[in-house]
Amino acid sequence: QSEEYLLAIESSCDETAAAVITRDMRILSNVVSSQTSLHEKFGGVVPEIASRAHLERILPVIDDALKQAGITLNQLTTVAVATEPGLVGSLLIGLTAAKTLALTLDIPLIAVNHIECHLFACQMQEDQPLFPAIGLVVSGGHTNLYHCSETLQFDLIGATIDDAAGEAFDKVAKILGLTYPGGPSIQNTAINGNPKAFPFPRTFLKDPELRFSFSGLKTAVLYAALGNPGAKKQPPALTEERIADLAASFQATVVDVLVAKCQQALTQYGYSTLCVGGGVAANALLRERLQEMTKQAGFRLRIAPPDLCTDNAAMAAIAWHHLDQGRIAALDLDVTPGLVR
Ligand code: KG4
Ligand code: ZN
Repeated sequence: QSEEYLLAIESSCDETAAAVITRDMRILSNVVSSQTSLHEKFGGVVPEIASRAHLERILPVIDDALKQAGITLNQLTTVAVATEPGLVGSLLIGLTAAKTLALTLDIPLIAVNHIECHLFACQMQEDQPLFPAIGLVVSGGHTNLYHCSETLQFDLIGATIDDAAGEAFDKVAKILGLTYPGGPSIQNTAINGNPKAFPFPRTFLKDPELRFSFSGLKTAVLYAALGNPGAKKQPPALTEERIADLAASFQATVVDVLVAKCQQALTQYGYSTLCVGGGVAANALLRERLQEMTKQAGFRLRIAPPDLCTDNAAMAAIAWHHLDQGRIAALDLDVTPGLVR
């Protein structure tokens, strides 16, 4: 029997991505074309620019993914695409490409949920099933805790009531005059700073509910950096040293809260496995602190490797599980931009 090949397509936000994955989860290629340079000067993703860039890049990215995998279009046996959640114009470009391939090659079309893909990234390199587990997805759009009972069953048990953690990284970077995306630039700047310099609020840290809030923290950083319009005394000049202290204190605050809430969820649900995915899960301090917490408390931790944490198409290999269950999409499949659950 000849090998089965999945082409996975991801275009939910500002990364145009395609990957080829075999049935036994070998990643033959994982091409990501980042639009960072296009959105940088705006300090965030501009939806209209993103969809135009996806349109220009999607075919070359798919071509690259096939070339790097060493296969031709005709060898594909399944095509998968992330259809939710995300920016409507961006999602539509990936979906249209996937539908066209499914129709012309006469192969099954599978719709995947981008957030489920972020969690599945932890499972990809495992021989044994990881689930049941508690899952944390921390990205630019989400800070969600899930009760993952099995591979295709993820139930939301906690979320942010305002900004996502990644969004806070991006906004704070902008306040501090650091480059976009904020996660990596804050992480690098924080290396030279004192994480205890500013005692920022750790919102909901001791709250019995599984919820997050990062908008107050963002405002606290803004006031500490540039001053509070209502206050008589204005802060000192924003020196390099002060920026480093602010970045380090901000990062430590976010990490403290994320680690504490994961531990709380594991305890509340009586689970021993924690899976973490999404762009912010690439953060070195978060990874280190999660290792410490889980080791100390006797939990098992799985965090996807950094290149599978930030947006990519390989994590859409969860589509193989959909295929096994006969969850094949019809060609009138549509996108679902908003977060449904
Ligand atoms: O998962 P992702 O690539 O896209 C979304 O689905 O949102 O996440 C992007 C987010 C951005 O907010 C970015 O600043 C953040 O992940 N991020 C990081 C790091 N790398 C990316 N945040 C903290 N530390 C990092 N090293
Ligand atoms: Zn993502």
